[in-house]
Amino acid sequence: MIESKIVDVHVEAYIKTLLPENVGLLKQLEQYAEENLVPIVQPEVAQFLKVFMKMRPYEAVLEIGTAIGYSGSLMALEMTKGTIDTIELNPEMAVKASETFASLREIKPEVIVTQHVGNAMEVIPTLNRTFDLIFIDAAKGHYKAFFDLCYPMLRPGGVIVSDNVLYKGMIATNLYLVSRKITIVKRMRKYLAFLTRHPELETTVLPMGDGLAISYKTGGNA
Ligand SMILES: C[S@@+](CC[C@H](N)C(=O)[O-])C[C@H]1O[C@@H](n2cnc3c(N)ncnc32)[C@H](O)[C@@H]1O
Repeated sequence: MIESKIVDVHVEAYIKTLLPENVGLLKQLEQYAEENLVPIVQPEVAQFLKVFMKMRPYEAVLEIGTAIGYSGSLMALEMTKGTIDTIELNPEMAVKASETFASLREIKPEVIVTQHVGNAMEVIPTLNRTFDLIFIDAAKGHYKAFFDLCYPMLRPGGVIVSDNVLYKGMIATNLYLVSRKITIVKRMRKYLAFLTRHPELETTVLPMGDGLAISYKTGGNA
């Protein structure tokens, strides 16, 4: 276990003992991710996302960073119906994700998942639609650029969830800074300052997993 710089190690270990075990597709993907060193949302973030998705019926989701389709499946399984557009740069990941979404279709045909393979910077401008939830979980140095492209597609009353915003504790303090990460760290600090001061957003930063920012777009019900 890598020691967290975000949550006290004992608290994190304790919370992990409280998490329910996933079954079926999600369990298989967790095993695949562990065996193949694929980065997926941390277990406590996965559980948070599950609860979060239950609290309100999201129907049009954009995910930036599909990987093998774990978080996409997790969200889809909590939706009653709707769509998920998910973007992945790495074609090999996208192949595995398409197998995941084929299995998902059997379990959850009410949610239509559209995979986009390519750089989100190029794909987002081609998406001619709006979303009520945007999940950003891709290259940490580009969150602000992703945000700028997809924010106009977020309906008032919609939510942006940004993962890894406290990046191994480095965003909060230079004490944990690894010098080769300085550009990512500076950009993420700017992104968090921007998000938390944005006049149309109400944002909370949660010290959970690698840090999660939840931003609610005011001005309506998505
Ligand atoms: C942390 S993983 C995503 C994990 C996934 N959301 C989950 O929890 O199951 C980040 C993914 O973003 C992809 N990625 C990085 N930069 C990207 C970009 N510019 N456009 C699209 N995908 C990108 C990476 O290839 C990687 O698979």
